[in-house]
Amino acid sequence: MADVLRRRGVEKGDRVIIYMPMIPEALVSMLACARIGAIHCLVFGGFSAKELSVRVGHCKPKVLVTASYGIEPNRNVAYVPIVEQALSLLSVGGLEPDVIIYNRPQLDKVELKSHQYCYGDEMSKAIPVDCVPLDSQDPLYILYTSGTTGQPKGVVRSHGGHAVALNWTMGALYGLKPGEVWWSASDLGWIVGHSYICYSPLLHGNTTIIYEGKPVGTPDSGSFFRVLSEHNVASMFTAPTALRAIRKVDPDVEIGKKYPLPNFRTMFVAGEHCDVETAHWTKESFRVPVLDNWWQTETGWAITCHNIGLGNTITPPDGTTGLPVPGYNVKVLRPDLTETADGELGNITVKLPLPPGFANTLYLNDTKYEEYFTKYQGYYDTADSGFRDKEGYISVMARTDDIINVAGHRLSTSALEEAIMAEEAVAECAVVGIKDKLKGQVPLGLCVMKQAVSDKQSMTQHIIAHVREHVGPVAAFKLVVFVPGLPKTRSGKIARATLAALADGRPYKVPPTIEDETVYTSIEKELKEIGLAERAQTGSQ
Ligand code: COA
Repeated sequence: MADVLRRRGVEKGDRVIIYMPMIPEALVSMLACARIGAIHCLVFGGFSAKELSVRVGHCKPKVLVTASYGIEPNRNVAYVPIVEQALSLLSVGGLEPDVIIYNRPQLDKVELKSHQYCYGDEMSKAIPVDCVPLDSQDPLYILYTSGTTGQPKGVVRSHGGHAVALNWTMGALYGLKPGEVWWSASDLGWIVGHSYICYSPLLHGNTTIIYEGKPVGTPDSGSFFRVLSEHNVASMFTAPTALRAIRKVDPDVEIGKKYPLPNFRTMFVAGEHCDVETAHWTKESFRVPVLDNWWQTETGWAITCHNIGLGNTITPPDGTTGLPVPGYNVKVLRPDLTETADGELGNITVKLPLPPGFANTLYLNDTKYEEYFTKYQGYYDTADSGFRDKEGYISVMARTDDIINVAGHRLSTSALEEAIMAEEAVAECAVVGIKDKLKGQVPLGLCVMKQAVSDKQSMTQHIIAHVREHVGPVAAFKLVVFVPGLPKTRSGKIARATLAALADGRPYKVPPTIEDETVYTSIEKELKEIGLAERAQTGSQ
């Protein structure tokens, strides 16, 4: 594959976008880039053509690798039309990357147009190529993550520190020995996929599993148990949402029980807060310790976890994400930079310097990267809040910015608001994350309309369609409420935190600078009308 890319003109430092389902060829394409010093940039398949085009326009790839289709439970996702639409949306002159299409079996081959190449045909002509020598600081990849504006941030990670850190974590943090089988049930398009489906297990000599499926419905709630059993997996990584999904369908693990798991010894979870109930159920059902990890796209590996390879306990206090990993000097701070007391909620920061593998910058945006370090001078601001207990365990509670976490995916509320505003009838809107029993959080759009809406159901569908088109199905955006106004401060800022609390039925304090307090009463009435209170209890369908 390295040769295929080279023949398409890809050289050291050139960008290659990989927009593929969970198939080995996605991983092959990543490693091919690494071999020749090209910078890969994976875009998660659940993003829309619009989101893909933003990333293509920003990183200007020479080649885009895709596949004929991906398999979702109820449909096949045809990637090529999405790629074509994304490229047609670009206004940048002369930017036309070559597109390499992997034709999956079972369906007809995609008919090639100009600038399109067949992965199989190109591979059949390829010859082995040598690795290109690189500086340790040369970039390995760009991975876009949601920022607080609609524009995603391109996290840049370099080769050297990343390889050192990730090789070390597999043994020290997760207790794996080379040769054992490891499974990370994430997607290569997210940081967990980059670090723990691709690089970390392979650097450390572990077999990695690529799973194109869901925890339930492909075909049933026994899938995780089946894969663990059939492949003799030693440890796995997944998101709490996936475990909640299995529990919802099969609380007594009737199907899962059928699969013996003689060598399975630890379940690691990350990506979102893991509630104690889910952790307990998982421990009982899989009969292994369930160990939470906290980290971010920016860090590339765990900031806090249970460090079992270093001898830490496998029975940590409930609800904690573990202890700081060597290399991360974690401090929970008050706004005045003093450290919080044990158990006191504060902003979680990491005192500089940062360990190897941390993001080197944001692609083409050094200024934005500096913002991570300006709020708390001398510290990295994680934008997560939480507390430390007297033994030093860290619990992570919520974001301090306008990012929400849906099924372990970080989404920007501004990007969702921009998508809603594409509906002309909307005068203004706010998106907040509300509690969801399955996905942790789901987005709720509160819309102020230019005129009263006569058919609320059809307008809701229009708005949902806009979000799907602009952001993609991954947003799981299904809830819209029409409200007469939004709570705004005198400077025009929407008080989103109070709206989220209101929708969740949690207590909230109206900020003193709110211009018109009465909007809360009307919003509450509208929320009751769409039955939000009950929804938070039962979870999304
Ligand atoms: N390509 C194209 N579309 C995708 C996709 C992909 N790779 N991944 C998801 N989608 C689509 C889905 O088809 C779905 O579309 P729909 O609205 O047409 O049904 C939408 O995005 C939402 O998908 P998903 O988040 O998977 O929700 P779901 O309701 O289909 O499934 C769970 C619920 C709990 C099974 C699922 O969310 C899950 O497995 N979550 C775990 C996520 C995870 O591992 N996160 C780790 C990140 S580190």
